[in-house]
Amino acid sequence: MAIQTIGIVGAGQMGNGIAHVCALAGYEVTLTDVSQDALDRARATISRNIDRQVERGKVEPADRDAAMSRVGSTLTLTDLGQSDLIIEAATERESVKQAIFEDLVPHLKRETILTSNTSSISITRLASRTDRPEKFMGFHFMNPVPVMQLVELIRGIATDDETFDACKSVVDRLGKQAATAEDFPAFIVNRILMPMINEAVYTLYEGVGTVRSIDMSMKLGANHPMGPLALADFIGLDTCLAIMNVLHDGLADTKYRPCPLLTKYVEAGWLGRKTKRGFYDYRGEGDPVPTR
Ligand code: CAA
Repeated sequence: MAIQTIGIVGAGQMGNGIAHVCALAGYEVTLTDVSQDALDRARATISRNIDRQVERGKVEPADRDAAMSRVGSTLTLTDLGQSDLIIEAATERESVKQAIFEDLVPHLKRETILTSNTSSISITRLASRTDRPEKFMGFHFMNPVPVMQLVELIRGIATDDETFDACKSVVDRLGKQAATAEDFPAFIVNRILMPMINEAVYTLYEGVGTVRSIDMSMKLGANHPMGPLALADFIGLDTCLAIMNVLHDGLADTKYRPCPLLTKYVEAGWLGRKTKRGFYDYRGEGDPVPTR
C-alpha cells in the first residue's frame, strides 16, 4: 500500500520533527496532542526549523510554504483514524502509549499501519494490545529529526512483510537511511549509546573527570559531535534514565544499572535542556555552565 497521509501523535520534540520531515517529503500530515498550546508551539518550531534550512540553502522557499500547508493539526486523537500510517510519538510511558492505541483502534481504516517512535519499549507487547499486530512496527527517529540520517525500523514478532516494506519506502522518501533492528530492549542505537552515557555519568560520580573534561575527552578524543553529558542533557535525563531501566529490567544484567547520580538529577527535576538545568545550567545568557 502506498502511504499518502500520516497521523502523528504527540507534538513534542520528536513529533514536531517527524511532522517537519514528512511534510517536506510531500506527505499530508495531521499532528495531534492534548493541548492546543503544544500544537501551536509545534507549528512555530517546524516553521522556524524549515526557515533555518531555507537560509542555509537546503530547502527552496516555495517548498517551505507547500510543506507548512501540508501540516494539519487536531485536538481529537480519533481524527487520525483515516491516515494511511500513524506514528505515535507521545510520552515514553507504556501506559500512555497503550491508552493511545486503544482509543485509536476502533476508528482506524482496515489498512492503516500503526507505528511507535518508542526508543525502548517492546514493539511486540504494544502490538499485542491492538487489533493488528501484523500491521504494527517500531519507527524510531533520532533527535534532531531534520538533521539525523537514521531511522531504526523494528519488527515485532508478528509484523508482516507488506507493513515493513511500506515503512521502508517512507524512510526512503524522507531521504533517510533505515537500519533494521530486532525487537529487544532499546534496539540498536540506545542499546549502545545509553550505556555509554551512563558510564560518562559514573565517570563524573566517581570523580574521574569533571563535566567539562569528560565532554571534552569524548569530543576531541573520540570525535563525537557532542560530549556524552551534553548529549544526555539534549536527549533529556528522564529519557536516559527510563531507557537504562528498560535495559536493566529487560536484560537482567547488572552492567546496565543506572548511575545513582543520574537518578538524583532526575529526582531533582534537572532533566537537561528542557528544564534549563542538567549536567549544564542553561539559564544564563552565555555558554551553559557545568553544574558539577
Ligand atoms: N531542524 C533543522 N535543522 C537543524 C536542527 C533542527 N531541529 N538542529 C540543527 N539543525 C541544523 C543546523 O541548521 C545546521 O545546519 P548546517 O549544517 O546546514 O549548517 C546543522 O544542523 C548543525 O547545527 P548547528 O550548527 O546549530 O550545531 P552543531 O554543528 O553543534 O550540530 C547537532 C548540532 C546536529 C545536534 C550535533 O551536535 C549532533 O549531531 N549531535 C549529536 C546528536 C545525536 O547524537 N543525536 C542522537 C540522540 S539519540 C536519539 O535521538 C535516540 C533516542 O531514542 C534517545
